[in-house]
Amino acid sequence: MFDLKSYLKIHRQRVNASLHSYLGTGDSDVSRVTQAMSYSVMAGGKRLRPILCIAGAQAVEGDQEAVTALACALEMIHTYSLIHDDLPAMDDDEKRRGKATCHVRFDEATALLAGDALLTLAFKILATTASQFPAAEHLNWLNVIAKIASASGFRGMIEGQMRDMASEGKIISIEDLEILHGLKTGKLIEASVVSGATIAGATEIQLQALSAYAVHIGLAFQVADDILNVTGDPERLGKNTGTDQARGKNTYPSLIGLEPAQRLADRLVDKALNALDDFDKKADPLRAIARYIVERNR
Ligand code: IPE
Ligand code: IPE
Ligand code: MG
Ligand code: MG
Repeated sequence: MFDLKSYLKIHRQRVNASLHSYLGTGDSDVSRVTQAMSYSVMAGGKRLRPILCIAGAQAVEGDQEAVTALACALEMIHTYSLIHDDLPAMDDDEKRRGKATCHVRFDEATALLAGDALLTLAFKILATTASQFPAAEHLNWLNVIAKIASASGFRGMIEGQMRDMASEGKIISIEDLEILHGLKTGKLIEASVVSGATIAGATEIQLQALSAYAVHIGLAFQVADDILNVTGDPERLGKNTGTDQARGKNTYPSLIGLEPAQRLADRLVDKALNALDDFDKKADPLRAIARYIVERNR
């Protein structure tokens, strides 16, 4: 029986150690922007995207040291998105990962720049890691870098954030919410699974199946995030709850109700698991993570 708890522990430690080597502890002897970057990245977080990247590589038996660098780059992009998401110009949140948000602890300009710096550092890490591979593998890496850039860019996460802001205080259709969530959250989650597997040497057929898995868990993840914003414990979550309703956000609970939203999340997990039918037990971490995504309480 696959033990998800110890799997998450081992790989969180692996990712955290590597993030620490890139960013340090943010002691007062480093620059203010470095302190802010380290503050937000090392504040904790579930490390879901890096772990999905690692699990994607393992599903095709290709976990290797470079996957750790790839995983860290994904976490940096994710943390940058959270720092900016929390700014007064966006969700105006004061708590994240159990601590004051970056702009509250530092200031708005520093939070903006810390986010920018995490985004650019992520791509520097990707390019440097790629350059250590033989030339024959460079095209594979360039594809991965392009995939991550588009997932986080103006046809991915950024567009999702734009739609999220633009639809505040309005009611959008469930179809539009699915597109919004797919862009805002789904794209980077999909890029995480697929990039890990690509570097690990997955075939095109495997990548298609992993992509289908990831699209379903990506949406399930955001549905669960919406549900936790209503029912979650702020202490466990490390962020405030009730904020979506207060800001007039479109969410699955607001559009279809809590119980239907939970049932939808469960159905999405079933679809994600079906997409892994042709994989053997090396995909068990991905299977267990899919269930965890809708059962989590943080
Ligand atoms: C929160 O992401 C923001 C969303 C995309 C829903 P996570 O729930 O993965 O946040 P951390 O990384 O654990 O803090
Ligand atoms: C977080 O989205 C930011 C991105 C996904 C880019 P949300 O605003 O929905 O998530 P929380 O609730 O603040 O973590
Ligand atoms: Mg937001
Ligand atoms: Mg937010």
